[in-house]
Amino acid sequence: MGKLDGKVAVITGGSRGIGRATAELFAAEGAALALCARGAEGLEQAAREISGRHAARVFTRAVDILEGEAMQRFIDAAGAEFGRIDILVNNAGGSEQRAASGSRQQVYAVDPINGPLPPGRFEEMSDGEFLKAFDQKVLALVRAIRAALPWMRKAGGGAIINVVSMKGRQPPPRVVSSGVAAAAAMNLSKALSLELAEHNIRVNVVALESILTSQTEKSRSRWAPDKTMEEFLAPRSANIPLRRLGTPEEVAHAIFCLSAPQGAYITGQILAVDGGGLRGW
Ligand SMILES: NC(=O)c1ccc[n+]([C@@H]2O[C@H](COP(=O)([O-])OP(=O)(O)OC[C@H]3O[C@@H](n4cnc5c(N)ncnc54)[C@H](OP(=O)(O)O)[C@@H]3O)[C@@H](O)[C@H]2O)c1
Repeated sequence: MGKLDGKVAVITGGSRGIGRATAELFAAEGAALALCARGAEGLEQAAREISGRHAARVFTRAVDILEGEAMQRFIDAAGAEFGRIDILVNNAGGSEQRAASGSRQQVYAVDPINGPLPPGRFEEMSDGEFLKAFDQKVLALVRAIRAALPWMRKAGGGAIINVVSMKGRQPPPRVVSSGVAAAAAMNLSKALSLELAEHNIRVNVVALESILTSQTEKSRSRWAPDKTMEEFLAPRSANIPLRRLGTPEEVAHAIFCLSAPQGAYITGQILAVDGGGLRGW
């Protein structure tokens, strides 16, 4: 008996990284899955592997979370396919770290008080940069949640997990645009947890800082192309109390705890999966 037997979960960005690990765990626990990502090939491969391994039903659609109408159609099609939606994991997205020109440092490897800080200043951030961050990290969540809510009400309840950067709680320097968008996503989640409680729909955040995924390799090649991954990660790990980056499977476990019926009394929370990196509590 799986803890998600009979449940249907929509996971955005399910083709690799944290979304893929979550899909694997959910399928192992008995859930049927609806996965989306932009790249059809990776998505199809993930679906084949997951359904082969866990005998799970997996529905996929190549869709960009920034396209509201397409997302609405995807979520409705998933609901129609399985007859219900119980869980929505808003996970899709990429790193929005600012490409500060000439820098060989990433912000997480920098002590914000003692520096030295990488170049790039708040005054140089365009309105477009703020709007882009807001579109990806806030409006995309709003649209997916809006599409899933009628299905969750019909199912008698649901669980929404928003995967958000720790920047929303602990803003590092030089990435103000994505930091404020993450803070807004956290605020949105708290507000919705209050608004949706009467429908037995829970809303929680899993907050992340340094998880080893394809994003990590992208950061290495942007910030330190001349360094090995081990050299690149050393200063970053030094700022993490557990002295290492997390794994997608560890994040998936946190998402699962908040999604499963056993988490039924948890709503409106931010669970930091960050190796102890949050200063304060
Ligand atoms: N890894 C970290 O340390 C870290 C830290 C803070 C926050 N996060 C957040 O955690 C989430 C997962 O990150 P990850 O590290 O697992 O990244 P990843 O390995 O790059 O996986 C991202 C997944 O999302 C999909 N995706 C990206 N943009 C999309 C879009 N616009 N529409 C639909 N699907 C999209 C990707 O597929 P396609 O490319 O085919 O679309 C892929 O399936 C992201 O929201 C990220 O911002 C991660």
